[in-house]
Amino acid sequence: MAPLTPIRWCDDDTLELLDQRWLPSRQETLRIDSADAAAEAITAMVVRGAPAIGITAAYGVVLAAQQATGPNWPEAMAAAIQRLAASRPTAINLFWALKRMKAIVETHRHAAAAPVEALLEAARDIQRQDLADCLAMGEHGADLLAREAPGAVMTHCNTGALATGGHGTALGVIRTAWDRGLISRVHANETRPWLQGARLTAWELAQEQIPVTLAVDSAASQLMARGEIGWLIVGADRITANGDVANKIGTLALAVQARHFGVRVMVVAPTSTFDLSLESGADIPIETRDARELTHQGERAVAPVGIDVYNPVFDVTPAGLIDAIVCEKGVIEAPDRLRLADLLATASPRPTP
Ligand code: MRU
Repeated sequence: MAPLTPIRWCDDDTLELLDQRWLPSRQETLRIDSADAAAEAITAMVVRGAPAIGITAAYGVVLAAQQATGPNWPEAMAAAIQRLAASRPTAINLFWALKRMKAIVETHRHAAAAPVEALLEAARDIQRQDLADCLAMGEHGADLLAREAPGAVMTHCNTGALATGGHGTALGVIRTAWDRGLISRVHANETRPWLQGARLTAWELAQEQIPVTLAVDSAASQLMARGEIGWLIVGADRITANGDVANKIGTLALAVQARHFGVRVMVVAPTSTFDLSLESGADIPIETRDARELTHQGERAVAPVGIDVYNPVFDVTPAGLIDAIVCEKGVIEAPDRLRLADLLATASPRPTP
């Protein structure tokens, strides 16, 4: 089967995004031809998932460069980068990618025209590198699972090809582990309220004929209590210096339940998801989204009109509830500040951008 390509730079110098809002019922793509449109697509969740947001923003900067003509091109690009940075607040990959693109703009700021080619190469490299990182994480995570066959695993949200440069982070470990015969089944939580688990993860796994069972988020304890889950494997949107992890809302509850029932917890994320400038998860900005995600199903109201709604879309799991963090450099078991700093200081398996 051809690999999923949710983000594609096209020959006519525009960006094509697979519109994840309609999956799995419709496979529609959206053409993006400006930085503003890229920012809107991120905010509206046409594209989502921490690494995919970063990749899209990087291509957004290329689109800005194409349109920034005249002597004021650096100012025009600074405004576009600001607009992209405001598209979503929690996933650090967005700011990581924009920082890298901004450095290229800075290097060329006295040139007559924006460095379109250099920016395009950098955006392509971010996308390629993310795929390479996901493949490496897949092997590291599967090695950990290989110590004792876990049977079935549980995952939350969508961390697959749709959320990354390809293969996936947590779902990449699951894919690699399945290929190596290490797991028997995946339990995908539906992931209220946006249903990334039901609409995207179940779809990705079903396409590859990896056995998947979908359940409501609140069935997780029951599954764990029955001893049916070996590992909970999730991604991350930001990991702070002490090993705390921001990820899709519900991850914290799952980690608490996992500790209670003796299920191990693995977080899988590339080093572009680490934010060592923050001491702990308490400092991570947590996005809240529209009340309508809870009060309506399509056009139908499922809650009283005007009701107060709390809709944070991420939460923070403390490092103490995590058994292992897997990144492309290797595995940090029982993560804490020291172990995290040690692994991150090791040489990168691929050239640093
Ligand atoms: O709101 P989303 O769909 O962007 O949230 C995605 C997640 O929380 C993922 O677990 C995380 O970004 C890792 S994706 C490889």
